[in-house]
Amino acid sequence: MSAQSTLKVGIVGLGRLGRRHAENLLRRVSGAVLVAACSPVEAELTWAKETLGINDLYEDYEALLAHEGLDAVFLVTPTSLHPHQIIQALKAGKHVFCEKPLSLDLNDCRRVSAEAALHPQLKVMIGFVRRFDASYQAAYQKIQSGSIGQPFMVYSQTCDQLDPDGFFVKFAPTSGGIFLDCSVHDIDLARWLLGNPKPVRVFASGTIAVHQDLQSCADVDNGVAICEFENGRIATFYASRTMPHGHETVTEVTGTAGRLTVGRNARQNRLEIADARGIRNECTPTFFERFEDAFLTEAAYFVDAIRNNTPLSLTLDDATEATRIGIAMRESLLSKLPVML
Ligand code: NAI
Repeated sequence: MSAQSTLKVGIVGLGRLGRRHAENLLRRVSGAVLVAACSPVEAELTWAKETLGINDLYEDYEALLAHEGLDAVFLVTPTSLHPHQIIQALKAGKHVFCEKPLSLDLNDCRRVSAEAALHPQLKVMIGFVRRFDASYQAAYQKIQSGSIGQPFMVYSQTCDQLDPDGFFVKFAPTSGGIFLDCSVHDIDLARWLLGNPKPVRVFASGTIAVHQDLQSCADVDNGVAICEFENGRIATFYASRTMPHGHETVTEVTGTAGRLTVGRNARQNRLEIADARGIRNECTPTFFERFEDAFLTEAAYFVDAIRNNTPLSLTLDDATEATRIGIAMRESLLSKLPVML
């Protein structure tokens, strides 16, 4: 693969997020071309044919991997499938982008890393999309340039809009719970912004405010957690599925010489509405509107890294560490005890 050649990509999974990645890869990521799609669901393949004009469609993942000339896969499949599908792709000689989290199981994370080590010429990246958001990038650069001194405290939240139908509850038994599904983004951000400190201890708690069905899978719809790192650094997390107003991702980093905040007032656009109810703005409805540009930047970064053979700044070790901390939070939630790492 050279900087001049076009990366041939296959998309795997065409659900809520897979469709977005597919549309980006088809039309908006230079240096890549979407050549094939895979899903076990016939209606999704029909969508790929009719909407994207993709003719090479596969119900079977191994058949997609055998597609002639395929260079890379984008895995946007249920989390439980990620480790095995990454390993299969690596064995087939394909570069891999895979959605977060890498896995819900630490041994599986390590199996993926071991397989990746056997294929150093192949890139593997897990989609911690927030690292590619312009505001988070700006915060990172400010920290690197020393503008807030030594960062020692992060607060980060992922709060989703309330879906009164509780559609997500259907996926709760396999999502790993609120910390591995939602806070895993914040965990990755905290590590990145604090300079990858070693985690020492976590404590987590939570409550079911709305979706009582979560009791059956020991999950909560509002969770809080604290992670202590070495050298006195601390991160606190909040994840919610019950915000009435919209999706609100907020991160605050406090340092010895200042504070940075990303995402306060999660406004959808620059429209301000003034009427008899007051003055207000509307909120981003879902994660996608908030991070639409970042998904594109993330895909472009991955494609460029392959074409130019440059190292990825976001590594499998980062993804494994995020899972490790997320698992500890879940354990703490269930045991009601602090968990040492
Ligand atoms: P979804 O359930 O809407 O889509 C999953 C897709 O995988 C479906 O198209 C399904 O047909 C397909 N699939 C299932 N089994 C398959 C198999 N054996 N081979 C190939 N395809 C198969 O799920 P959603 O919401 O799109 O999530 C997918 C992944 O993306 C999850 O890991 C999730 O954690 C992650 N995600 C990441 C977000 C982010 O902010 N970066 C936001 C939302 C989801």
